[in-house]
Amino acid sequence: MRRKKTIAILNGPNLNLLGSREQDIYGHQTLSEIEAACKEHASAAGYRLDFRQTNSEGQLIDWIQDLSKVGAIIINPAAYTHTSIAIRDALISCDCPVIEVHISNVLKREIFRRESLISDIASGIICGFGTYGYILALNAVDDLLRNGKFIDG
Ligand code: DQA
Repeated sequence: MRRKKTIAILNGPNLNLLGSREQDIYGHQTLSEIEAACKEHASAAGYRLDFRQTNSEGQLIDWIQDLSKVGAIIINPAAYTHTSIAIRDALISCDCPVIEVHISNVLKREIFRRESLISDIASGIICGFGTYGYILALNAVDDLLRNGKFIDG
């Protein structure tokens, strides 16, 4: 039997609090609910999903290094998006495409959230679609892995 290709979804600090954290910005879905929806979606498309969250920058970097050979990494680095050169450097060294996801529209919020140290090295960015952004990212990755590019890209 053909091994299912793995996609990783990595989540950074405070995303474990989804569902109770700033609901007006991040909605009501918990991270476990997002994980279940993503696993179902990925599995229906023929992928194995490795879904993780940590509050620690070093842990994210270790995971990125370990996962560098998966089909793709979808990452919501949360606040580290705006601060972490170390996460950027780890992602640059990955052998796989990287998609940056944000639940909120970071461009509509405080000025310090407008800067991302990840966006210019990512294959694509999804932000402002709520937790549905993770599903959009999975669809984008599926396109990329099947066709070697995004539709019309
Ligand atoms: C976030 C946006 C970040 O600015 C923030 O620090 C987060 C979540 C988002 O998903 O909208 O923790 O990455």
